[in-house]
Amino acid sequence: MFTASATFACNMHSLVIFASGKGSNAQAIIDYFKTIGGATVTLIVSNKEDAGVLDIARAENIPFLTVDKQVFNDQSLVNKIAQYSPTLIVLAGFLWKIPKSIVTAFSNQIINIHPALLPLYGGKGMYGNHVHQAVLADGKKESGISIHYVNEAYDEGSLILQAHCAIKAEDTVDKLAERIHRLEHYYFPRTIAFLLNQLSEKLN
Ligand code: GAR
Repeated sequence: MFTASATFACNMHSLVIFASGKGSNAQAIIDYFKTIGGATVTLIVSNKEDAGVLDIARAENIPFLTVDKQVFNDQSLVNKIAQYSPTLIVLAGFLWKIPKSIVTAFSNQIINIHPALLPLYGGKGMYGNHVHQAVLADGKKESGISIHYVNEAYDEGSLILQAHCAIKAEDTVDKLAERIHRLEHYYFPRTIAFLLNQLSEKLN
């Protein structure tokens, strides 16, 4: 018994989530891996003391920390995150640009979700409902989600997956946001699982 569970623990991937908002994507990821196993969210990092994602961390008994700009750019944060040995750092609605110290320390291990079809509607200031507003204002016929690796430029790392959805004539920002969230909640956990499987295969 003891040996079996110890072996499982060794095979368990650690995920560190960065989030600034209510955390519905964080919750979807937590729930998905509770069901399928193989990974667990070991730490949640937020830049907002009152972010909903921290209520999720408390409810799920997941360690969390909040960071200000100074801490965020300090090497000590890299060391702190490294203690959790993350296979992936997952940006799930995180609004700050990731500093060079973190990008360098976790090269090819950081992924982000963006609520539009990059390279459209990406970059500084393009987050959450601002993105949907811009898409609707342009009269686009479709939008979608992009999951991509993170480098030092906003929303410019290489793409891993995109999923599309049609825009309806009667769409509002809220309706589009809801449809995009549904896509995110489905594809983000599964894309993470796909990446973890790939890494496990490489290691075996
Ligand atoms: C998500 O729609 C995510 O794509 C977006 O923030 C939302 C967070 O929702 N991220 C960005 O806009 C990043 N540029 P959540 O807090 O409910 O997961």
